[in-house]
Amino acid sequence: PAVDAGWAEEVRALAQAQDAVVLAHNYQLPEIQDVAHFTGDSLALSRIAAESTASTIVFCGVHFMAETAKILSPEKTVLIPDAGAGCSLADSITADQLRSWKAEHPGAVVVSYVNTTAAVKAETDVCCTSSNAVEVVESIPADREVLFLPDQFLGAHVRRITGRQNMHVWAGECHVHAGISGPALTAQSEAHPEADLYVHPECGCATSALYLAGAGAVPAEHVKILSTGGMLDAAREAKPGGTVLVATEVGMLHQLRRAAPEVDFRAVNDRASCHYMKMITPAKLLRALREGRDEVHVDPELAERGRAAVQRMIAIGQ
Ligand code: 13P
Ligand code: SF4
Repeated sequence: PAVDAGWAEEVRALAQAQDAVVLAHNYQLPEIQDVAHFTGDSLALSRIAAESTASTIVFCGVHFMAETAKILSPEKTVLIPDAGAGCSLADSITADQLRSWKAEHPGAVVVSYVNTTAAVKAETDVCCTSSNAVEVVESIPADREVLFLPDQFLGAHVRRITGRQNMHVWAGECHVHAGISGPALTAQSEAHPEADLYVHPECGCATSALYLAGAGAVPAEHVKILSTGGMLDAAREAKPGGTVLVATEVGMLHQLRRAAPEVDFRAVNDRASCHYMKMITPAKLLRALREGRDEVHVDPELAERGRAAVQRMIAIGQ
């Protein structure tokens, strides 16, 4: 087994002794998801971090998630079991690049995906996650220009749903989701023509999924573009005995199979694993609780400037 028998008990006991809440993203290793007090998508975890009364948050996820928790709750101790757990999408725009982009579009409203650094959030008007990106953009008056960053596939999805023309989209991407391609989705869907498709909007294949539905190759009601939390809600309603093709990071399959054991969930790309998410190992979680590391610090001035944008994010789409 990946963990020995006493590991989960020790994690829970140390967390209790230190008044710590353990949060895990849906892409974490199964044993980390199972030991956490809460497992969820980016938005749900941000809300839990903001509302928790625990004095310490141990964030099993990537660095921007722990930073977001610290921005929301500067008085709490926020730990991440490995501060090296980054995100290729958050790395696809810097605060300097954003400042230059803003200078080209004076007066535009800046909407940043939560997958951004604290320095980028400090330059942002409102953050969003994949669960509420459409609602966030719809909340902005129609005559205001929007700068949407950094994910081009999520941006294209939001533009498609809202029909918004005055929205500019940054050309960033997540290397894991960009690698879940249209041809892979089409091939899987031909092999399983009766299957539902759950597609994360960061995927390179999000457009292909809608194309398959538009062309009648897949019934439109079988195609669902969803955040990881949205996938879990859909799974609870899924037909027992059915097949679902899942286009997102493979860690998601664990929660889906738990939520609906009678459904056959299959990864569209079974190599779509985020090595940053998988840097959080059982041993490092234990180390975090024993040694109080790695502690996440956000420059108080940046945190102050980014806080309102993150607070708007957690308020929209409740
Ligand atoms: P959600 O959990 O918000 O769908 O985010 C996906 C993701 O890529 C997080 O890194
Ligand atoms: Fe970032 Fe992509 Fe990994 Fe999510 S899956 S943490 S967006 S690199």
